[in-house]
Amino acid sequence: AGKEDLKGRKVMITAGPTYEKIDPVRFIGNYSSGKMGYALAEVCAGRGAEVTLVSGPVSLQVHHPNIHRINVESAEEMYQAATAAYADADAGILCAAVADFTPECTADHKIKREKEDLVLRLKPTHDIAAALGKSKRENQRLVGFALETNDEVAHAQDKLARKNLDFIVLNSLNDKGAGFRCDTNKITIIDRQNASTYPLKSKKEVAEDIIDKLVTLL
Ligand code: C5P
Repeated sequence: AGKEDLKGRKVMITAGPTYEKIDPVRFIGNYSSGKMGYALAEVCAGRGAEVTLVSGPVSLQVHHPNIHRINVESAEEMYQAATAAYADADAGILCAAVADFTPECTADHKIKREKEDLVLRLKPTHDIAAALGKSKRENQRLVGFALETNDEVAHAQDKLARKNLDFIVLNSLNDKGAGFRCDTNKITIIDRQNASTYPLKSKKEVAEDIIDKLVTLL
């Protein structure tokens, strides 16, 4: 039998992209596959946790019976579901690639081609990580992700502090075999004291490393 070091714990995980509706048939999205978040959910459940997986639109399936999946589409829906689930969780892991901006209004009908140009006005979405960091109780833990293209460690450290996270998992776009849609990932775990870089591994193995770190803080 494997480790049961999350037995009796509740973990809330966000995963996947969000879709921000432009009109009934179009949206603003991103390349997140949800693979890292789903791997984290399976590892947490495998180690004994009750998992709530707040998932954006992805083509993945849940396997473990102790994963309760809540499907959402927009950043706003993800914010509502994540906030509700985090309230009685021991830990939150924010793995979703949440849109930072959403259309100020969604058209009721499909937007037609017959125009000179089209301007989409966007408004900011809620930062789920920052909101949960603000509401975080002393006995709760919160883990974030960061994907950066430059000055990675400095930006990640800034996010860690700003969003009141316990640690942040940095994936670099500069590393081959890391990030969106891949089955592998290369991470650096950053907390208030230090930064440790792990070798390139499968997302399943990376999830185990992340959960090992989380368990030390619970
Ligand atoms: O600021 P940035 O989006 O790079 O921060 C990334 C972290 O914040 C990730 O953990 C991501 O899931 C989370 N996030 C969030 N809500 C947002 C934007 C980002 O929870 N609206």
